[in-house]
Amino acid sequence: DLLLREVEDFGSKTAAEIEAFRIEMLGKKGKITALFNDFREMSGDLKREFGKPLNELKNRAAAKVNELKSAAEEQIDLGSGEDLSRPANFQSLGSRHPVNLVKNEIVSIFRRIGFNVSAGPEIEDDWHNFTALNFPEEHPARDMQDTFFVARDPDWALRTHTSSVQVRVMENSKPPIRTLSPGRVFRNEAISARSHCFFHQVEGLYIDEGVSFADLKQTLLFFAQEFFGPETKIRLRPSYFPFTEPSAEMDVYWGLENERDYRMTKGTGWLEVLGCGMVDPNVLKNNGIDPEKYSGFAFGIGVERIALHRFQIPDIRMLFENDLKFLEQFKAAY
Ligand code: PHE
Repeated sequence: DLLLREVEDFGSKTAAEIEAFRIEMLGKKGKITALFNDFREMSGDLKREFGKPLNELKNRAAAKVNELKSAAEEQIDLGSGEDLSRPANFQSLGSRHPVNLVKNEIVSIFRRIGFNVSAGPEIEDDWHNFTALNFPEEHPARDMQDTFFVARDPDWALRTHTSSVQVRVMENSKPPIRTLSPGRVFRNEAISARSHCFFHQVEGLYIDEGVSFADLKQTLLFFAQEFFGPETKIRLRPSYFPFTEPSAEMDVYWGLENERDYRMTKGTGWLEVLGCGMVDPNVLKNNGIDPEKYSGFAFGIGVERIALHRFQIPDIRMLFENDLKFLEQFKAAY
C-alpha cells in the first residue's frame, strides 16, 4: 500500500527523473521487483493473497511511467515548459507620426502626376545648399535662412532647405526631370509654438522644354485641391528666392464649401503652405542644364505648417516631444 501511494503521488517530472523512478521501482533491484522476489518464496496461501495486488501495483507503476514519459515528450515537442494556454502578450500597435501622414499624402498626390522621389544628405556643403542655388557668397539672401554650421567650418552646414536636393538631382540627371524630395531641414531659430529649429519640407522640381508659370500654377492648384478638398482656392503672392525668378508664396483658402472643413474647426482664411517659382536660369546653368532649351519650376512645401492645421495641433513643439499620449491619437487618422 505504501508503494502504491508512492507511485500515485509521483508527479510530472523531467524525462531523466521519470527514468530514475522507473529504475527505483521496476529495475532489477527496484522496490517492486524486490516484492516479486519475496513473492516467489511465499507459500500457496500467501501467493493467493498477494498475487493480485502485487500485479496491480506493477501495472500501475508501469502505466504511470509511460504516462509521464509521453507527457514529458509532448512538452519537449512544444519547445518549452511554459503554459501555452496563457493569453499572449499584448503588443500595442504604433501609429504614424502626423508629420509622416502629411508627407506621405503629399508624395502620393505628386506621384499620381509622374513625380518620382529623391533624397539628399542632411549635412550639406555650401555649394548644394547655397552657391549652386544662386546665393552669391556674402549675399544677404544667405541670412534669410539662419544656418547651423558644422564644427565652425563655413563650408559645411545642416541643410536649411530641401532645395539642396534639386541641385543633386540636376547634377545627376538630364531633363525631363520631375522629382519630389521630402526631408528634414534645420534653421537656427528661436523655438516657439509656431517655429522650431528643425522641420520638414517637400521639395518639387520640374524641368523640361517649354515649362511655364501656368504649368506651375496648375500643378499647385491640383495639389491643393487633392489635399485640402476640391473647392480649395489658392493665392500666389509675389516673393523672393535667389533660385527662382519670378518667385511666389502660395496660400490656400478653405470656405464652408470645403469638404474637409470638419477637420478645421477654427482659423478659416488663408494659410501659407509653400514657396515656389520658375527655376532661375543661373541655377540651370550652374548645374549644366541649357537655360535656352529648358525651363522649369520648383516649390518647397512646409509639412509642419500643414500638419498643425490639418490636425488642429496648437503648438509645433508637441510634434517632437515623443509623448505617446499625443502620438497615439493619430492611430485612427487615415
Ligand atoms: N527653399 C525655399 C524655402 O525653404 C522654398 C522654395 C523651394 C521656394 C523651391 C521656391 C522654390 O523657403
